[in-house]
Amino acid sequence: MAGRLHIRTFGCQMNRYDSDRMAELLGAEGYALTDEPDEADVVLVNTCSVRARPERKVQAFLQRFAADKRRGRTLVLGVTGCVAQQHGERWLARIPELDLVLGTDAIPELPAMVRDAHGGTRRCEVGEDPDGAPRFLEAHPAHRVPGISELVTVGKGCDNYCAYCIVPLVRGRERSRPAGAIVDEVRRLVEAGTREITLIGQNVNSYGRGQAEGVGFPALLDRVAGVGGLVRLRFTTSHPRDFSEELARRFGELPVLCDWLHLPFQAGADPVLKRMNRGYTAAEYRDKVALFREYAPEGAVGADCIVGFPGETDADFMATMDLVEAVRFDQLFSFKYSPRPGTASARLPDDVPAEVKAERLRWLQARQAEITQEKNRAFMGRTVDVLVEGASARGDQLSGRTTTNHIVNFIAEAGRIGSVVPVMVEEGLANSLRGRLALTAA
Ligand code: 5AD
Ligand code: SF4
Repeated sequence: MAGRLHIRTFGCQMNRYDSDRMAELLGAEGYALTDEPDEADVVLVNTCSVRARPERKVQAFLQRFAADKRRGRTLVLGVTGCVAQQHGERWLARIPELDLVLGTDAIPELPAMVRDAHGGTRRCEVGEDPDGAPRFLEAHPAHRVPGISELVTVGKGCDNYCAYCIVPLVRGRERSRPAGAIVDEVRRLVEAGTREITLIGQNVNSYGRGQAEGVGFPALLDRVAGVGGLVRLRFTTSHPRDFSEELARRFGELPVLCDWLHLPFQAGADPVLKRMNRGYTAAEYRDKVALFREYAPEGAVGADCIVGFPGETDADFMATMDLVEAVRFDQLFSFKYSPRPGTASARLPDDVPAEVKAERLRWLQARQAEITQEKNRAFMGRTVDVLVEGASARGDQLSGRTTTNHIVNFIAEAGRIGSVVPVMVEEGLANSLRGRLALTAA
């Protein structure tokens, strides 16, 4: 055994996917994953630069291990992900205890870089894939036991250029992964025990655009849904502009496709949406939600939104509140706007005062918490199908999710992990449901 590896992952599903691939690459070299950073021989921090706050958290996390190394601890310390891609060389210069900086396209170099670090050579690899020849990572279930629910990427990068967003600057232009490679990866994971696949990408709906293969996202879903043994299929993230009727129809047609849609709206006022370069109005957004609900009447809708974008007035913010009231999201991730270097909106004055942003966010989150709770309570007394994924966060129960992506905790024996079981919901909590197994004696 070469040693123990700890990976701390910040940010989105793309980073979670990349972390899993890094665990496999080092798993093949004999490294075993540990949840305990203090016991690890290699610590990697997979970073996110989408907002200023996660970026600051990364710095604090790295400094803690740099201090350990100054006190004599033997440790390979690496930073990967979006912050690494952006500030790579600078961080290597600034933090002498840092051994490796790995950009988002350079993950295959990781094993060699760890070996070099053991030999005392510090390296920074942040090169991008050559245009027209993107390298895609592949899951290797032999080197990491896959979970009941796993992620599979459909591509990388993003071409949308939302005014606030740093992603296209970090992860580059959108490049779709060949459909055959996606289907093969899903098949390998399912053969190794995975039951649920979430297809991920910055904007999955535009999958295949500009590619010779001619397979669009709805056709990709058809092919993935055809993999034998796959029980559930999800996808995220969707862009409202590209969410089409052809795609919505799949919710009615594909039995494995879950009744869940994550459709970020970002703002409820049209002038703000325009300045954000989102390419839709609030009314068009609501039409897209209605389209989804037409094919998935019981479906759940989640979203992301930003408060305090440059120039957002009280009336603009009220339009966001109106949208939240009208759609009644099952889950909403909301953030205070933070200007990111190099983005289009960083050139606009960040003119909504910090206290106003904080107050709007508090108001929005308080109202959404009520809506989420009301919707969770509406499950009480109903029996739902739960795909059991493992132990609950507190460890005393089993946990799984409904097709609508609601977390359900209940008591049952571990042998149920990996199957879909009926659960009678007894309580609708703030962020989850609690129930009991509804099996009659078989
Ligand atoms: N400021 C605040 N929130 C942002 N997001 C993306 N960029 C910014 C920014 N500059 C939010 C969006 C996105 C989510 C992942 O993060 O809501 O959907
Ligand atoms: Fe964060 Fe965006 Fe990078 Fe994901 S792609 S890790 S959200 S900056």
